[in-house]
Amino acid sequence: MSRQLDDSNYSSANVVAVAGLNLALSFENASVERLEKRLSESIVPEVKQKILHHLDQTKKQQERLRERIRVLGTGMSPTTEKGRLPIPEPPHKLKMMIESSSSDNEREVWESLNDLIIERAEAIMYRGGIQALQLLRADKKTIKELEKCLKEEEVFGDWLEKNNPKIAKRLMITQIEEKKQGRKKKMRETVQEEKEEAVSAAAV
Ligand SMILES: [Fe+2]
Repeated sequence: MSRQLDDSNYSSANVVAVAGLNLALSFENASVERLEKRLSESIVPEVKQKILHHLDQTKKQQERLRERIRVLGTGMSPTTEKGRLPIPEPPHKLKMMIESSSSDNEREVWESLNDLIIERAEAIMYRGGIQALQLLRADKKTIKELEKCLKEEEVFGDWLEKNNPKIAKRLMITQIEEKKQGRKKKMRETVQEEKEEAVSAAAV
């Protein structure tokens, strides 16, 4: 691309850049909502802690994106709409089955996979956005801000990728142990009940 872009090319580059920034912002708007939901539902303390930290980062990302949209000044305002997050949507029957039969531990494992998918998708989005802005020779400060967002997405995504399997294993082992304990307790109760019935039958 020629470096001698005239004013109209610069402004059309800004329009494309702002559209991309608004797309990223719509994604982050949806992310805040999901992170808040995960924060209230997650049953793993270290995951909650990481989500809380990333929620704070995501709110700052929203602010940075809004600021760049305003600075580029194309007349487009920062969106308040929420984009659709790329969470895999199972077929309806399967979804119903999973939702109705999953334990809290199993649900945590499902959702931790979705957490990872979302963070990786966000990183892909920022990487593509940075590349596009570089091609458009867009405002350098905007590119720098997107690089900051990308780094944060990568760090959280890396943490999830590394820790999700360990946490899932721990949750599943706990679940198996609890089921075993539950079965043993039930057996003890049944034996006790049979004993009591035998004693009262003998007394008649
Ligand atoms: Fe994120």
